[in-house]
Amino acid sequence: MKPALNVSGDEKELILQLRRYLEEKLTYLLDQNGTVSIGVSGGSMPRVFSKAILSLPQEQLNWKRIRIFMVDERNVDLDSEESNQGEYLRLFPNELRDVFVPMQIFKDPCLTAQHYEISLRKYLLPEQLNNTARFDILFLGVGPDGHTASIFPGKERLEKITELNWVSVITDSPKPPPSRITLTLQTLQHAKNVAFIICGKQKAEIVRGICDRDQKYPAAQARPFNDKLTLFLDEDAATGVPDRDSSDSDSPPPFDG
Ligand code: 6PG
Repeated sequence: MKPALNVSGDEKELILQLRRYLEEKLTYLLDQNGTVSIGVSGGSMPRVFSKAILSLPQEQLNWKRIRIFMVDERNVDLDSEESNQGEYLRLFPNELRDVFVPMQIFKDPCLTAQHYEISLRKYLLPEQLNNTARFDILFLGVGPDGHTASIFPGKERLEKITELNWVSVITDSPKPPPSRITLTLQTLQHAKNVAFIICGKQKAEIVRGICDRDQKYPAAQARPFNDKLTLFLDEDAATGVPDRDSSDSDSPPPFDG
């Protein structure tokens, strides 16, 4: 199946497209039982994701049943400028603080990862499939080297340091800071929905790689097994989409949540 494609002319349009996607998915998911689990990444995402979700009619959202998780995090304190979660918390109103599942940071990143997995298991318990985490939606970014989450080219096989291997660490990240916690590729691949937000000409080749399943890029390996992949691109990044006219321009139906 080809990825569902959303191409925007500017950031305002990107936020509108994200909002529409969130509205469609959340309407469906909140109608089911249990917690809706959304994983988010760093980079420019905190700004656009926050604007999109906070612009939805708030009475439509049952925040008590929505939980937001970090796809990856730098092993730094929450009040550090480098903390992804810290950035989201600064962008969200205080009364929605509990929507974010905290990642307790320890000096040893392995401990951070182990605690984080235990925390995830509390929320994703009913969604586990053969001990594999199944997030409802994961929002991923992409680096110019093709990394996604904190999974970098040549470093895809992260050491198994947690019981279920949902989470791992990298201590020599090519992009600073070096010490990071990340969901594993296995976890990304089992998500019910994966949405990439990718902007810029220098990422057009990675977009091609994702569409062509070119395994040399971690981002292409993060394609979910159910193929429910949505791309939010600007015009520059979209030049990498092969055979663009025949791509789906809308999200596929939410058969799997
Ligand atoms: C990090 C960032 C990083 C980012 C990508 C894409 O922890 O260093 O999260 O991995 O997600 O570089 O960033 P943009 O979407 O802003 O290009």
